[in-house]
Amino acid sequence: MVSTHTTIGPFTFDNCLMNAAGVYCMTREELKAIEDSAAGSFVTKTGTLKERAGNPEPRYADTALGSINSMGLPNKGFQYYLDYVIELQQEPDSKNHFLSLVGMSPEETHTILKAVQASDYQGLIELNLSCPNVPGKPQIAYDFETTDQILSEVFSYFTKPLGIKLPPYFDIVHFDQAAAIFNKYPLTFVNCINSIGNGLVIEDEAVVIKPKNGFGGLGGDYVKPTALANVHAFYKRLNPSIQIIGTGGVKTGRDAFEHILCGASMVQIGTALHQEGPEVFERITKELKDIMAAKGYDSLEDFRGKLTYID
Ligand code: SIN
Repeated sequence: MVSTHTTIGPFTFDNCLMNAAGVYCMTREELKAIEDSAAGSFVTKTGTLKERAGNPEPRYADTALGSINSMGLPNKGFQYYLDYVIELQQEPDSKNHFLSLVGMSPEETHTILKAVQASDYQGLIELNLSCPNVPGKPQIAYDFETTDQILSEVFSYFTKPLGIKLPPYFDIVHFDQAAAIFNKYPLTFVNCINSIGNGLVIEDEAVVIKPKNGFGGLGGDYVKPTALANVHAFYKRLNPSIQIIGTGGVKTGRDAFEHILCGASMVQIGTALHQEGPEVFERITKELKDIMAAKGYDSLEDFRGKLTYID
């Protein structure tokens, strides 16, 4: 029997496929649709201390090779998502979930995480260190000193299972430096990658989204090779206790297979979910299982991280 069952930390999932934060996860209704789909889990929209309207529209566009967005972290405030995952965890057949969070300042991040620490929530937390779209706010994970400081402060009080969502890195030395920092902390996972920040898509003579004069995060086909490189680079460098979630350019079972081959334990779908809706999980799960069956693999462990190189 071919199975796409997986684990992250102490949590088990019937399927390794799920949504990526930002897609189909703003409201309870959207999250419920993912919960009821073939996905193995959901992650919430990144919740901030207070509700945010985000950037002016249009702020998302589908393009020939994927998507561009500059959402600006619109969300209902972290408490909305925290309440929902606590409510779901009381249901007997509930899946395990990921609560995505970040503050607009380190102080806000600590306020949020202390509230989550004190709450009844027993699931996974994804700290988003990688939003490229808020005007005037740098991506935290591109500043190694700040990242180190935030993680050191967080783990002085936070004991629940926590991972981080990362932007793509493009330099081997940056993979080394980032991994050396992450290896100092009891992270449960890292999630590679958020969108490739600050691309520019043009139609005729104009940009296609309004915020930041059209600059926005790229997803879809554009990003898959970068995502695979980040998944594999961190798989090779991180302590084995830190698992990898692969995100970026997954629109077929073959794409998911490649993320797992590079070392991913779970695979998230963003642009393709936005374009196809939650039925995408059934299609891609079937495609992934067909590839596994053809290769004689029963479980993800049979091929996870087993990418081969040319001698
Ligand atoms: C956004 O809301 O701008 C996208 C979310 C993210 O990139 O973290």
